[in-house]
Amino acid sequence: LPVIRMCLSQHLLIVVVGDSAVGKTQLLGRFTKDEFHFDSKSTIGVEFQTRTLNLNRKRIKAQIWDTAGQERYRAITNAYYRGAVGAMLVYDVTRRHTFDHIAKWIEELRANADNSIVVVLIGNKSDLVGKREVSLDDAVEFAEEQGLFFSEASALSGENVETAFLMLLEEIY
Ligand code: GTP
Repeated sequence: LPVIRMCLSQHLLIVVVGDSAVGKTQLLGRFTKDEFHFDSKSTIGVEFQTRTLNLNRKRIKAQIWDTAGQERYRAITNAYYRGAVGAMLVYDVTRRHTFDHIAKWIEELRANADNSIVVVLIGNKSDLVGKREVSLDDAVEFAEEQGLFFSEASALSGENVETAFLMLLEEIY
């Protein structure tokens, strides 16, 4: 019986991309383990985490690649876009330049990923209310222009993390 179940579960490859320190690793940790760490180390190259869940009565294994935001790893991370069915594009609501760079990350995806890839834009660290540098209005407008799904979230509080990943997986599936 376990073997049969394994065969029936569908594997989906997701990539999480965005500037360094926007919270990609912590968003994944929250979604796959319900954990959060303040002392997060910068990702080197790529790492992955998985979570198996039921979606529309189907068994799905999401294999989520956590890519390094640092420029020096770009050649490595670009290689992981091919084959991904979904991407989470993350910026930090408290650092405007991470939002301004999203257009560049979209270009990287267009150049390296499959055309059919589903993309969700995430404004992380929504818990840091007093430090906000990107308004919700600006992000909504940009997401509409680019035809992206969008949500703000907080890996720290956990707000919207589950719904954001589910939004992406449901759209793919
Ligand atoms: P790279 O691996 O360098 O690309 O960074 P990253 O995008 O994976 O960032 P990471 O998850 O390592 O988080 C960077 C820092 O932001 C860490 O100190 C985290 O604790 C902090 N952080 C991440 N998410 C949140 C959040 O939702 N709220 C707050 N307040 N801090 C966060």
